[in-house]
Amino acid sequence: MNKAKSLGIAAMGLAAVLVLLQPSQAGQGEEGLAKAIADYLVAARGVIARNQTLINDSAKGDKGFTPAVFEGQVTEEFKKVGGIDLKTATNSSPTGKALLELNDAAKEVIADAQPEINEQGKAFKGFTPAIFGARTGDKFYKKTKLKLKQTSLKFRGDYNRPDDFEEEVLKKFEAKWDKGKPYMEETTLGGRKVVRYMKPLYIATSCLTCHGDPAGEMDISGRIKEGYKEGDLRGAISVIVPVK
Ligand code: HEC
Repeated sequence: MNKAKSLGIAAMGLAAVLVLLQPSQAGQGEEGLAKAIADYLVAARGVIARNQTLINDSAKGDKGFTPAVFEGQVTEEFKKVGGIDLKTATNSSPTGKALLELNDAAKEVIADAQPEINEQGKAFKGFTPAIFGARTGDKFYKKTKLKLKQTSLKFRGDYNRPDDFEEEVLKKFEAKWDKGKPYMEETTLGGRKVVRYMKPLYIATSCLTCHGDPAGEMDISGRIKEGYKEGDLRGAISVIVPVK
């Protein structure tokens, strides 16, 4: 073999190693998967919160808030929150596959809710970020067996009640904790090895109509306002991913 040829082969070998060392764009392993799922739900809940005034407009029938409109908005928001472009997600990685399933679940929830959202003459229809999140988490679980839920120490819905693990972590978030930092732990659940991932959720301006002041007064959903201020910890998104 001449020198130039062997150098060429060595260069090709090096290029192959470099390609293998590239991290996959969607993030690898259970942690990347859990993070992507939690970030998607944060982004999607944000989209619902920002469309709340439109959804609650009693004078308007057709709101035009279709699955396609939702998808456009969530794609933009998820780029900001999760750093991933949904348009480039594919089934070839576990994270990409889960994200596509989750996006489908969310769009199905929006599609199923069209009669609810488009009802004229009714202001509050019960379609909130929390209800959207719960319905999406249920559908996603049925498709993937990956658990995705929202929870809080001050939960309103009993199905959002934290389990012992979630309660511990929420207390950590409430004590001394770097704002926005997620918590991750490999543990066992029902005899299975799992990764548990929790991402703290904070109160934004759009949440205050229902969760803000004055505490103890009724919000438009007929529930009691908690009196949170902007930036307060509201709860967390909790994800459970089995370890293979
Ligand atoms: C239109 C009123 C409304 C708005 C706006 C709203 N929420 Fe809620 N939120 C609710 C209701 C009602 C529930 C309870 C849902 C149920 O009955 O299960 C809830 C539940 C939750 C939960 C689940 C824990 C629990 O209490 O059951 C979280 C977390 C939450 N909200 C966070 C937020 C955040 C963060 C925002 C802003 C981005 C927000 N909410 C905006 C009405 C609202």
